[in-house]
Amino acid sequence: MNASPSRISPRVRPRWTSHLVRGIAGVGALSAVAAVVVACGGGGGNNQLSEEIAGKQVFRSDTFGDEAFWTDKLKMNTVIATAVDPTTALKVGLKVDSEALPAAVVTGIQNGSIDLTKPATTIALLKLDAVVGLKGTVTTVNGVDTLTQVGITCALCHSTVDNSFAPGIGKRLDGWPNRDLNPGAIIALSPALDAATKAVYNSWGPGKYDARFNIDGKNKPAVIPPAYGLQDIHKITATGDGDQVAYWNRYVAVTQMGGQGSFAEPRLNLSIINGTTDLVSSKLSSLQAYQLSLPAPTAPAGSFDVAAAARGKVVFEGAGKCSTCHAGPNFTDANTTLHPVADSMAEPETPSYASRSATKQYRTSPLKGVWQHAPYFHDGSAPTLEAVVQTYNTKRTLGLTPQQITDVAQYLRSL
Ligand code: HEC
Ligand code: HEC
Repeated sequence: MNASPSRISPRVRPRWTSHLVRGIAGVGALSAVAAVVVACGGGGGNNQLSEEIAGKQVFRSDTFGDEAFWTDKLKMNTVIATAVDPTTALKVGLKVDSEALPAAVVTGIQNGSIDLTKPATTIALLKLDAVVGLKGTVTTVNGVDTLTQVGITCALCHSTVDNSFAPGIGKRLDGWPNRDLNPGAIIALSPALDAATKAVYNSWGPGKYDARFNIDGKNKPAVIPPAYGLQDIHKITATGDGDQVAYWNRYVAVTQMGGQGSFAEPRLNLSIINGTTDLVSSKLSSLQAYQLSLPAPTAPAGSFDVAAAARGKVVFEGAGKCSTCHAGPNFTDANTTLHPVADSMAEPETPSYASRSATKQYRTSPLKGVWQHAPYFHDGSAPTLEAVVQTYNTKRTLGLTPQQITDVAQYLRSL
């Protein structure tokens, strides 16, 4: 098995191709895209497109065999079957993909004939593959639909929905962080954990997750970041641990999701191998291609004050000194520099998030689409963009006026 963290599979392997074909056959909307690929015939652009289509399937649906963790170890299938009705599921921030719901189910939810307070309804939704980021295997045991296995996918934390059907139910928005999701509270439902461990998971709150707690035992969660807007950024995570998205995808798939494969990082003296079959490596290339194809969402028309944003741009590039670090088209100097801990406005903190990372430094955050994902800084300590600018103003003694502070916030809202 390949243990190198940075190497990604250069091409889609046959095993995966057959999976992709099955995936496309089941998803009507993708067939049209596949037809375009065939019609154009060969060429790098088409390979790129088919990589992205394959990666979308991985992002949304692949568990990398992590049922070994979520089912065999944590027994989450039993928890869901006994305690997680759809109302509870929505309360812990799980989202439902309205496009996966057949018309009869839509009608049933609308007229109340489908009971959203019964765990059996959650199992029915899992059978329809309608719960974003949760993948269930439902088999009929003694005539009853039974959740025999459950696993998670990347979409759990890095997708939300547009709420077009109801709060928490709508069309998927891939790459948008699910800041309603309370991963700690979900994991803490597991009967396999002791009280002290459950208390740690329960302390995180919505929109946060500590991707190092099970490695170093320290407890300081980070906000779930977007997985969009990463094209041309070659330092990944808040601390710039990887040069490619795939580096971190391998880390999460193996060490956090519990997928079958390996991750090694000499800087952290870490080497983890799960299982005997590698279900991760061959998918990293397409998974990365899909993420890089997701642009940061543009600010909705009317969501910011255009004149104030124009004034704010001048302050951002001038008196605010923001563009000394937030430079270039993605508003980050990440590709050339990482920053000492003191350059993070969320520091000092205990334990320092950077101290637990491979680089021990921070990356200047890219700012495109920043309007979309409050709260801000790696720890979510700034609730609004005004609070961000105010924090810089105080800590860096910039001497900005209240007007300049709101103008910069309006500019940030426009990016
Ligand atoms: C349980 C929630 C969770 C799951 C599941 C998850 N992530 Fe993340 N992801 C996070 C958190 C939290 C971070 C922030 C880590 C940091 O910056 O130190 C993160 C960081 C990232 C980043 C870095 C973004 C940036 O700005 O550099 C990418 C890309 C990403 N995740 C993609 C994925 C992919 C792909 C998967 C599936 C293999 C996945 N994640 C699964 C929570 C999750
Ligand atoms: C010395 C370099 C530097 C300067 C100057 C700087 N930043 Fe930052 N910025 C960073 C770093 C590093 C982070 C990540 C901090 C963290 O998450 O702990 C960051 C994070 C942010 C974030 C949070 C983004 C997110 O995704 O949560 C915003 C918004 C931001 N900066 C805006 C500004 C503004 C506005 C200014 C000017 C007033 C500014 N920055 C000046 C380096 C800098």
